Amino acid sequence: MNTDLNILILAAGLGTRMKSNLAKVLHRLDGRPLISHVCRTAEELGPKMIYTVVGHQGEDVKAAVLAEIDGPIADFAWQRQMLGTGDAVNSARELLADSDSTLLVLSGDVPMIKRSTLEALVRLHNDHHGRRAACTILTVKLQDPTGYGRVIRDELGTFDRIVEQKDGSPDQLAVKEINSGIYCFDTKKLFTALKQVGNQNAQGEYYLTDVPRILCADGEDIAIYLHDDAAEIEGVNDRRQLSAMERTIRTRTVERLMLESGVTFTDPNAVYVSSRAVIGRDTVIYQNVTVEGKTVIGDGCTIRPGVRIVDSVIGDGVEVKDNSFITDSQVGEGCTVGPMAHLRGHAVMERGSKVGNFVELKKTRLGRGSKASHLTYLGDATIGEKTNIGAGTITCNYDGKNKHETHIGDGVKIGSDTMLVAPITVGDGAVTGAGSVVTKDIEPNKLVVGAPAKAIKTLINDK
Ligand code: UD1
Ligand code: CA
Repeated sequence: MNTDLNILILAAGLGTRMKSNLAKVLHRLDGRPLISHVCRTAEELGPKMIYTVVGHQGEDVKAAVLAEIDGPIADFAWQRQMLGTGDAVNSARELLADSDSTLLVLSGDVPMIKRSTLEALVRLHNDHHGRRAACTILTVKLQDPTGYGRVIRDELGTFDRIVEQKDGSPDQLAVKEINSGIYCFDTKKLFTALKQVGNQNAQGEYYLTDVPRILCADGEDIAIYLHDDAAEIEGVNDRRQLSAMERTIRTRTVERLMLESGVTFTDPNAVYVSSRAVIGRDTVIYQNVTVEGKTVIGDGCTIRPGVRIVDSVIGDGVEVKDNSFITDSQVGEGCTVGPMAHLRGHAVMERGSKVGNFVELKKTRLGRGSKASHLTYLGDATIGEKTNIGAGTITCNYDGKNKHETHIGDGVKIGSDTMLVAPITVGDGAVTGAGSVVTKDIEPNKLVVGAPAKAIKTLINDK
């Protein structure tokens, strides 16, 4: 843990330019809210505490933060009115003003920043020509700096001021070096200087960017860390920037999977793959496939067009046929799924089992080598090994109030269009006739038929 470092994330704004009812930091990038990305990187630095300034949809933002980082190191400051970034920091005054630690300020809308860059920033802050600076600003040079605050230096190249887009003269706006909105501060000096920040500017806001100028005027040392990777520093202010960032991340993910993991993509531009997904060697991903969350796909799989897989684990040598949807489920080695199958609610397909077209599995375990090939709903069920579920079978698991379980043994043959009225147990080796309505448990090796189904015969199963 870095006991000398606290982090403050600014995340109270609505993000007017997003034209959205959703707070900007809750918009998703790579499947997670913007704020989650910043929190993840912040936590990797091992700070004493991570404070987040919340305002717009603050409870939701808080929940997103707490979903990403450990509760004990998270704390929150509320900004009631969004009066600018300076005011946002000021709302954490009571939590922080007496702290001797360095404060790293991050923006909730700058999600691509890397841990190594922040570490370098903190290092420079702690050792700027042999002493600790009062403030260190992370900057980058952009071809098109429009929209960002410009960092103005004097003739010696030392810091002079930051000028916002809306306040700048043409000369100032011609400067390509921009403020990333990420800084290190001596915490006490920051909160002292904040008292002097006014709102006489084009936006009538209290700018955090005025603090370095105030400190500088007081003879304090301001360091600048000029970084070379502009992509890390990009902010998300509108949806075009959000989609451009999404594309950048996706391209990187797909290229990494092709070059490092040996995955084939029939059309790398027409897939969506989460950066947290793991995909094995010689797996082929067809066009229009979506792989979300922490999905793991094994080696030698074939994922056909239109498939969506979310937070699931797919074993080696699996084929998922066209337009299937798999979420929160596990598919074992050598299974076949689809076309147009739906697995959800922690469904488990054991090795070599098969689910065919228009089959839904919910909270169901399908045993080794078992098959449900057509038009079937299996919910809250366990199915043994080498059992065949005929076309049109339904586990009638819901009585209008409660859900009930179905247990089907090994080597069972469920005839087409069988209704299994749960709770129900079907013994090993049993057979149901086509159209049976099973309302009572079936003993092993019995043949039942009819509605309600009755046993008519004991079968001799040579297993
Ligand atoms: C800010 C900087 C600008 C910099 C840019 C980098 C200021 C005045 N300007 O501009 O120099 O180039 O970031 O991305 O700081 N926020 C609050 N409360 C507020 C206002 C903002 O919490 O009252 C939060 C927002 O939620 C956001 C962050 O602060 O996460 C930055 O605010 P934003 O309005 O996007 O600032 P920019 O105009 O981008
Ligand atoms: Ca911004």
